[in-house]
Amino acid sequence: MPAKLEGKVATAPPRPNHIRPASVAALAAVADVHLTGPAHADVQVTGVTLRAQHVVPGDLYAALPGAHAHGADFAETALANGAVAVLTDEAGAARESLRDVPVLVHPRPREVVGLLAAHVYGRPSTKVRLWGVTGTSGKTTTTYMIESVLKAAGRHTGLIGTVGTRIGDEQLGSSHTTPEAPDLQALFAVMAERGVTDVAMEVSSHALHLGRVAATEFEIGAFTNLSQDHLDFHADMEEYFQVKAQLFDGRARREVVCVDGDWGPRLVKPGTVTVATTGPATWTASGVEVSPTGEQTFTAHGPDGDIEIHLPLAGSFNVANALLAIACLHAEGVPSDAIQRGLATVQVPGRMQRVDEGQDFTAVVDYSHKPAAVALALDAVRAKTDGRVVVVLGCGGDRDRAKRPLMGRAAAERADVVIITDDNPRSEEASLIRAAVLEGALATENRGEVLEIGDRRLAIFKAVELARPGDVVVVAGKGHETGQEVAGVIHPFSDVETLTAAIRKAHR
Ligand SMILES: Nc1ncnc2c1ncn2[C@@H]1O[C@H](COP(=O)(O)OP(=O)(O)O)[C@@H](O)[C@H]1O
Ligand SMILES: [Mg+2]
Repeated sequence: MPAKLEGKVATAPPRPNHIRPASVAALAAVADVHLTGPAHADVQVTGVTLRAQHVVPGDLYAALPGAHAHGADFAETALANGAVAVLTDEAGAARESLRDVPVLVHPRPREVVGLLAAHVYGRPSTKVRLWGVTGTSGKTTTTYMIESVLKAAGRHTGLIGTVGTRIGDEQLGSSHTTPEAPDLQALFAVMAERGVTDVAMEVSSHALHLGRVAATEFEIGAFTNLSQDHLDFHADMEEYFQVKAQLFDGRARREVVCVDGDWGPRLVKPGTVTVATTGPATWTASGVEVSPTGEQTFTAHGPDGDIEIHLPLAGSFNVANALLAIACLHAEGVPSDAIQRGLATVQVPGRMQRVDEGQDFTAVVDYSHKPAAVALALDAVRAKTDGRVVVVLGCGGDRDRAKRPLMGRAAAERADVVIITDDNPRSEEASLIRAAVLEGALATENRGEVLEIGDRRLAIFKAVELARPGDVVVVAGKGHETGQEVAGVIHPFSDVETLTAAIRKAHR
């Protein structure tokens, strides 16, 4: 899941300094919503938020209905913090606490909150060039590649995604892969104010589905791939695809699509730039060579000729990600030498990240937490070792159950040793999650050895203990993340730190 710590971050997201206030009446007109309450049509709004505790004076408080509570339940806090108007539905508008403020009423207020925020902040997505990347996997990697190249080309960049939000080199925290609609609009405005010219952004299916990127204008929309994931959230693959496809409904000025696999080709229209590693497309790759350390070189073939690429990231899928980034960058006129320099130096935290303590085997932390991603990561390391592959992995609780045995199988089919452990059991009984993963692993023909060690730290130490010279140890799951969520509590945990500690201990 892209947003494992969803809802746990309490700090208020940044706001722009300069805002041209919008009257409540103007907002009502923009979103075509009904305005009730006392005659305050000229009340001026200078910000928008969904969270009562984040309200600052002058805000429109968006009191949305939720699964557990109604935002209107927190209206008193919002008003005490200085909210000057409220957006809500009929049920919210009926609250006694909203008697004395102007209220914008919409049957589905979530659908218009992005539009209202975009209006208040001056349509900020049009003040930067926005590079949106969607798909099941590769979003973070591709946005990092785009960011790295744009920096090499001298642009001032922003980055929004799983690993966090970045303005230039300044790192802000992040709890959602894609922020809530009003926070996102404020963030674009902050970035524009600070001189950012280009923003590379992961666009998750949740974000599209929940309207978080409503009223957002993309320069580029890019599609990586689609595989089984988030089926706890979407009814089936077709629905999941339709949600991802929303990025290609005309909201992006230019569309770039990877057509490897079954789903990408369905997004292709006249004018779409295509990318493929397995067949014909606008952009293809050849001559892929992988060094013993996993670095790759290849030739990218595009409409204006070839570009020789050196990529420090392992995994054949990263050729596809790089090709997608190259196609986007080229379409926007970024010169080939900047593409070469930017890709040659790109680093993505927790994606095939090597831990090197001078040990005689390879150790990798990878954020793969989906069956297809596990398969690809293991195939990638398998391709460059004569030794054995040892993998540590688990599945999250309260999420897609169907993927658990598939994860077990993806690992058991490819690794010599599979160590099944815990990965954010959340409210579920951890041993039952492991049992489901174990079932898939044990049912695999020609499988490797399978162990079960619930304690993630012990599991990682065991993997290191089992490693022989020339082997590869892969710790799959957390990537850059720094917590293990058990029964509502997030315990500090880092795969990179734990793996480092294990290697140091074993090889003292
Ligand atoms: N193009 C791709 N195709 C298949 N798997 C990929 C691809 N890119 C990355 N992966 C796998 O998915 C993991 C997550 O990659 P990431 O770039 O963080 O994707 P996302 O942000 O979409 O979740 C990687 O560590 C790798 O194992
Ligand atoms: Mg991501």
